[in-house]
Amino acid sequence: MSMDGDLIAIVNKLQDTFNNIGGDAVDLPQIVVVGSQSSGKSSVLETIVGRDFLPRGSGIVTRRPLVLQLIHTPSNPSSRLQPSSTSTFRRSPRMGNSLPPQPDDGYLPNLDNSPSAGGSGGAGIMRPGGKTMGGSTGAEYAEFLHINKRFTDFDEIRKEIEAETYRVAGQNKGVSKLPINLKIYGPGVLNLTLVDLPGLTKVPVGDQPTDIERQIKSLVVDYISKPNSVILAVSPANVDLANSDALKVARSVDPRGLRTLGVLTKLDLMDAGTNAIDVLTGRTYPLKLGFVGVVNRSQQDINVDLPMEDARRKEEEFFKNHPVYKNMSYRCGTKFLAKTLNNVLMNHIREKLPDMKARLNTLMGQTQQELNAFGDATFLGEQHRGSLILKLMTEFSKDFVSSIEGTSLEIST
Ligand code: GDP
Ligand code: NA
Ligand code: MG
Repeated sequence: MSMDGDLIAIVNKLQDTFNNIGGDAVDLPQIVVVGSQSSGKSSVLETIVGRDFLPRGSGIVTRRPLVLQLIHTPSNPSSRLQPSSTSTFRRSPRMGNSLPPQPDDGYLPNLDNSPSAGGSGGAGIMRPGGKTMGGSTGAEYAEFLHINKRFTDFDEIRKEIEAETYRVAGQNKGVSKLPINLKIYGPGVLNLTLVDLPGLTKVPVGDQPTDIERQIKSLVVDYISKPNSVILAVSPANVDLANSDALKVARSVDPRGLRTLGVLTKLDLMDAGTNAIDVLTGRTYPLKLGFVGVVNRSQQDINVDLPMEDARRKEEEFFKNHPVYKNMSYRCGTKFLAKTLNNVLMNHIREKLPDMKARLNTLMGQTQQELNAFGDATFLGEQHRGSLILKLMTEFSKDFVSSIEGTSLEIST
């Protein structure tokens, strides 16, 4: 089983299974983007999600935290319930809305991010698709916490984020720690939370209070100090890494660099004759998860609305043709960043597997006792069918857990 290709499939199976039997399967790390203002945080987050929906730009654009929750929904619920041996059983109330997807039901996206994966050119953890949420992805939609409306267009989402930023943080560069909560639902997304944050800044401008530096820092620390968060520390390559606010604040909560992934943006903007090879190979600053260099859309690209897939292609060309990076181009760029992140999440799941297995075993023991008490399953009344399905499900997931246990994973840094 190819791990990074199957992250969504694996997590969704685990989560569907555990949802149905009550409880969370894996509490996936929350991914938090930190860095100085205009370092490219929103751009990076957007390419990870693989969608074009965040306000970005020069200056202070992100002025409130955006807590983005991706929520997996089954693609076609009516066709899901078809295990051969249980076809006579109806869905019981305790099953919730979904069953574990069958291995071959074909709706799970490929995460290998190969160019042939096509679609939007998005790197990441959402299935490729167009600007609008409909299309090939089926029923994808978004909801904000602050407004009772269903969004199906990414441009409208961006506008709503902007409007809601203005509403609370004002017109004049003010920053608020009150988060905007956005949920994106769809069959092609991984259950995962990502957080975009205002940039670290030093000098107050506009309506910002004199202690803006301290306020933003404390806001950032609130999010990244959770041990369950993965810190994407974004530093622009055209500024000396010794001055990186991202690394400084990340180190304050993760001194050993165990859950910090370095992202070096703006490699295209470095002075001629300089390069970031020492940073990218880990010689400058040690991080267990390493550094990945990316080239996001420039302001000019944003102005002309350069599509995400074109930007990804440009980025790939940049690394392939660069005299210094071409030899390591396979481990540069947004696609590799998404892959690295997938590995991080996968390793997290692997660490939690023994615990999940123990919980499944307990449940199976209980279910077996229930079944023994009722005798032959064929004669079970309606009210007990849920138990049988539970048993089948736990067996399914037991096989499943052991199937991913044997695989080996490596983070290439
Ligand atoms: P944030 O303030 O950290 O969220 O940064 P944004 O994502 O809003 O980006 C700030 C500005 O830098 C925008 O104009 C982007 O187009 C530009 N930008 C970000 N990353 C890159 C990059 O890799 N290369 C170039 N040329 N511009 C970038
Ligand atoms: Na910005
Ligand atoms: Mg931003």
